Amino acid sequence: MNKKVKIKRNWKVPKGQPLTAFDEKILSFQEAGCLVPKNSLIKTPQQIEGIRRSGVINTGVLDLVAREIHPGMTTLEIDKLVYEYTKDHGATPAPLNYYGFPNSCCTSINDVVCHGIPSADEVLEEGDIINVDCTTILDGYYADASRMFIIGKTTPEREKLVRVAKECLEEGMKACKPWTFVSDMGLAITRHAHKNGYTVVREYCGHGVGNEFHEEPEVEHYATRKGAGMLLVPGMVFTIEPMINGGGWETCGDEMDPTEWIALTEDGEDSAQWEHTFLMTEDGLEILTY
Ligand code: MF3
Ligand code: CO
Ligand code: CO
Repeated sequence: MNKKVKIKRNWKVPKGQPLTAFDEKILSFQEAGCLVPKNSLIKTPQQIEGIRRSGVINTGVLDLVAREIHPGMTTLEIDKLVYEYTKDHGATPAPLNYYGFPNSCCTSINDVVCHGIPSADEVLEEGDIINVDCTTILDGYYADASRMFIIGKTTPEREKLVRVAKECLEEGMKACKPWTFVSDMGLAITRHAHKNGYTVVREYCGHGVGNEFHEEPEVEHYATRKGAGMLLVPGMVFTIEPMINGGGWETCGDEMDPTEWIALTEDGEDSAQWEHTFLMTEDGLEILTY
């Protein structure tokens, strides 16, 4: 007996309309059993323009944080900068009240993997490494990016982790061509992390973005083979945002955090992350959050 493999037919061709070459290409992957995007994940030129404009503000926010961040500053002060700049530019910080998230950005220090919550009690100390993750909504369009900042002078180990995490994002970008799969990108990231003695977080991933904060596909950064996850085609907009751990890949919650947002490394080792929002084009990725 043949085992029937059920194909998820995400791609729909409107009835009575001629197939375009683009339709035919996606359909051939779909019939081969690959996970392909649903039609609505292909952004229109108007949507792309909106996301691009949102990205300009999001980059302005992170540039402001880059200028202002210093030892002795609290993470709540960072949050205030993010909130005010975003509002002053006619936009809204997406994290605020998102499924109960209490602030305008995420501030994740040292062993915090992601979703750190800004606080008046949290003071940046010399040697800390911090990820500031900002997402802007402008005219209904979302752009999402994060950067690492080193507070003053840190150890060579932390410097390396921050650098390699950035390289992981760059390696992922290079591997990410149209008509390849999410895991082709993830494999490039995983190889670079492992080569440097680090691990890739598995519980949190990148995501489609633009019309909403988190859309399909799930963009997993950990992979062991090519050809898995969703097919990436021109017109899709998504983030790549690898979280790279100095120790093991496992994460856990913070017992002291009633919101249950904060993610820590299970072993207490450091973690670093960089993120951009990308448009897939005919020749590869375009960064929308530069
Ligand atoms: N910006 C994060 C991401 O990259 C998501 C943060 S959700 C929040 O997907 F509610 F914590 F802000
Ligand atoms: Co983000
Ligand atoms: Co994101």
